[in-house]
Amino acid sequence: MKKLLIQTNNLCKTYFNDGEQVHANRNINLRIYEKEFTVIMGSSGSGKSTLLYLLSGLDDLTSGGIKFKDREIKGMSEKEKAQFRRRNMGFVFQEIHLVSNLSLLENVVIPGYLAQDDKEQVDRLAEQLLSKLGLQKEMNRMPAQVSGGQKQRCAIAKAVINNPELVFADEPTGALNSSQAEEVMNILLELNQEGQTILMVTHNMKVASWANRVVFLQDGRLAGELDISDYSRDNMLERERAVFSFLSKKGW
Ligand SMILES: Nc1ncnc2c1ncn2[C@@H]1O[C@H](COP(=O)(O)OP(=O)(O)O)[C@@H](O)[C@H]1O
Ligand SMILES: [Mg+2]
Repeated sequence: MKKLLIQTNNLCKTYFNDGEQVHANRNINLRIYEKEFTVIMGSSGSGKSTLLYLLSGLDDLTSGGIKFKDREIKGMSEKEKAQFRRRNMGFVFQEIHLVSNLSLLENVVIPGYLAQDDKEQVDRLAEQLLSKLGLQKEMNRMPAQVSGGQKQRCAIAKAVINNPELVFADEPTGALNSSQAEEVMNILLELNQEGQTILMVTHNMKVASWANRVVFLQDGRLAGELDISDYSRDNMLERERAVFSFLSKKGW
């Protein structure tokens, strides 16, 4: 049986801009199960990033609730949330956050040192991870000395060094060209096939077709869901067509 990782209950987020209300997320009821690779799609401003920030506890919700496993996120203090995130979550963003005067290896090792006691073990793990992500030769280079795709792969290594329950990715391919985007998607897929749960935001249909499940947001509401886990990955075009047809029906 699939294990439930995240469950939201009528999740709402309202921003107040100069006295004007923006309903960024409206009554969202979403479940994320372990080992899933879910994509959140929707046009710009539909509330995708807001949802990701709420689910990860990076931002506070306005009403409703979020449970991560059996814990309600709402009741936690900032300190508890930070610790909870460090233990359970990894993050990958469109703007790649690497420290520019540290090597790729050093960048990956830092979050490991913060969360794990055995530093030598972290060093070994970081080297293994970077090699697995195709950065064996580059790991001692500085971020400025590698390509955008390589930087993003390093950021993924950094996100998974503490073996998180869930990896959040907000437009991880948004700043990459198509071959670099494919490199990054290949890696996310490989991690998912090893059991890593992934929740990714994208507005790119081609990128979305790599996932197993597409959740569509429209005007802050959850407007539909598509399961494409039964489609073969040997025929990516067929997967893209399925996503396209689903989104067209939803008025994309
Ligand atoms: N910090 C903020 N303050 C005020 N309004 C915001 C803030 N963040 C997002 N919004 C608004 O909330 C809506 C949803 O934004 P967002 O979640 O970033 O959408 P998406 O990621 O789908 O492009 C938009 O109308 C946006 O302008
Ligand atoms: Mg966004």
